[in-house]
Amino acid sequence: MSSRPLKVLVGCETSGIVRRAFLDQGHDAWSCDLLPADDRSNRHMQCDVRDVLDMSWDLLAVMHPPCTRLCNSGVRWLSKPPEGRTLNDMWSELDNGAELFSACWNAPVPRVAIENLVMHRHAKERIENYQPFAQSVQPWQFGRDEDGPDNEKKRTCFWLRGLPTLTPTGTLDGTTARDSVFKASPGPNRWKTRSKFFPGLAAAMACQWGSHATEAIAA
Ligand SMILES: C[S@@+](CC[C@H](N)C(=O)[O-])C[C@H]1O[C@@H](n2cnc3c(N)ncnc32)[C@H](O)[C@@H]1O
Repeated sequence: MSSRPLKVLVGCETSGIVRRAFLDQGHDAWSCDLLPADDRSNRHMQCDVRDVLDMSWDLLAVMHPPCTRLCNSGVRWLSKPPEGRTLNDMWSELDNGAELFSACWNAPVPRVAIENLVMHRHAKERIENYQPFAQSVQPWQFGRDEDGPDNEKKRTCFWLRGLPTLTPTGTLDGTTARDSVFKASPGPNRWKTRSKFFPGLAAAMACQWGSHATEAIAA
């Protein structure tokens, strides 16, 4: 079976963790974010992901688009806004977040994975062709070293189109998993720590979804 590298777009990613995992598997992977890449890679596009969705990608992986207004934990702000913010601000941020999710979910790409948290009904109602998430996983399920970066608790949900659910690749059982993501100390970089991705999970995505897409294209 002859195969070619997949054209992969990793949206909403500054860390480069998922981009590098796909590159390690030999794919033509690019990341895209409004912000520059942390590693200053020349395989990063600094722009709105919606502007590059139609570049004939084989696979789109959006690694946690902004979800503060979409997820269950933020639903309370839609009836009582935080200090200094208005209800209008909250509903307009919800509209913007849902619009971004919807554009990625309905992108002209045959295989799409979006990572996000569980959403409330107002968010679901705003997403075109909404479907329930396909699976939820924990980073530690993809880890092999108790002291390594994957031995963390952070429920991660995947919305999948044209891709199979992931099979865990780790050897840990979760009993020693840390929850440093939730305990991240306050400060300007807290959001970055809380939204960081995990190398074991990224490697499984690149390996399992990469093989699935390669076989589908070659068939
Ligand atoms: C929750 S963080 C995800 C971080 C990611 N997990 C990583 O490892 O880099 C959300 C990211 O989405 C980016 N973002 C927000 N709106 C965007 C848009 N329209 N197009 C591209 N990136 C966007 C933000 O700049 C931020 O870096």
